Amino acid sequence: MDLSRDGFAPVAVALAAQGWCVADGLLTVAQTDALGKECAAQHLRGALRMAATGSSHSAGVLRGDVTQWFDTLAPTVAQAVFVARIDALMRSLNRALMLTMVESESHYAVYAIGTGYVPHMDRLRDSDERVVSAVFYLNDRWLDAEGGALRLHLGGDAAHDIFPIAGTLALFMSSDILHEVLPATRTRMSIACWMRQRPRHC
Ligand code: OGA
Ligand code: MN
Repeated sequence: MDLSRDGFAPVAVALAAQGWCVADGLLTVAQTDALGKECAAQHLRGALRMAATGSSHSAGVLRGDVTQWFDTLAPTVAQAVFVARIDALMRSLNRALMLTMVESESHYAVYAIGTGYVPHMDRLRDSDERVVSAVFYLNDRWLDAEGGALRLHLGGDAAHDIFPIAGTLALFMSSDILHEVLPATRTRMSIACWMRQRPRHC
C-alpha cells in the first residue's frame, strides 16, 4: 500500500477488514531522512529517556526503549511535517470509519541492541483514548537478519512481522492487536504515535 499513490482510503478498508495494515509513502525519502537524523541527534545528546509505566514492573523489564515526546506546541520542522500527515490520515479514518479521534501524540523511540518490548496492547487499562496506533520506522538499509521486527499477534498461531525499514508505517487498532518488538542486533529507531479520542470514562 503506497499512500503517496493511493491516498488514505485503502488504510480505512484494511483497518476495518483486519484491524491492521502496513503502508509506504506517508513521507518522502528526504522527510523521513530528516526525522531519522533528528532522532539520532536527540538520542546522542541524551534527550531520550526510559519510559514511565503505570504498572508495578519497572519499565526496563517490559521494554528496552528510550523515548522523547514531540512537543505539540513547538514541534520541530521535521516533526510538524510528520504530524500534519498523520493528522490528515486521522481525519480520513474518522470519515471512513465513523470514528471520533481528535488528536495524535507521538514520540521518538530508540531500542538499544538486544532489547525489545514484551507482548502488549496499546490501549491503557484505565483509558480508552487511544484508538489507532501508528509506528513509523527510521532505519536505513535494515536487513531482516538484524531482527527487530514488530510482531503482530493475530489470534491462534497467526502472526505478522513488520521490519523497521525507513519509511514503513505500521498501523493497527490500539484496543485489538496484541504486539511485541523483537530484539535486534542493531540500534532501532522509530516514531510511535497514537490517534486519540476524548476519554469516555470507561
Ligand atoms: C509501542 C510499540 C512498536 C514498534 O511503542 O507501544 O509497540 O515497532 N512499538 O516500535
Ligand atoms: Mn505498542
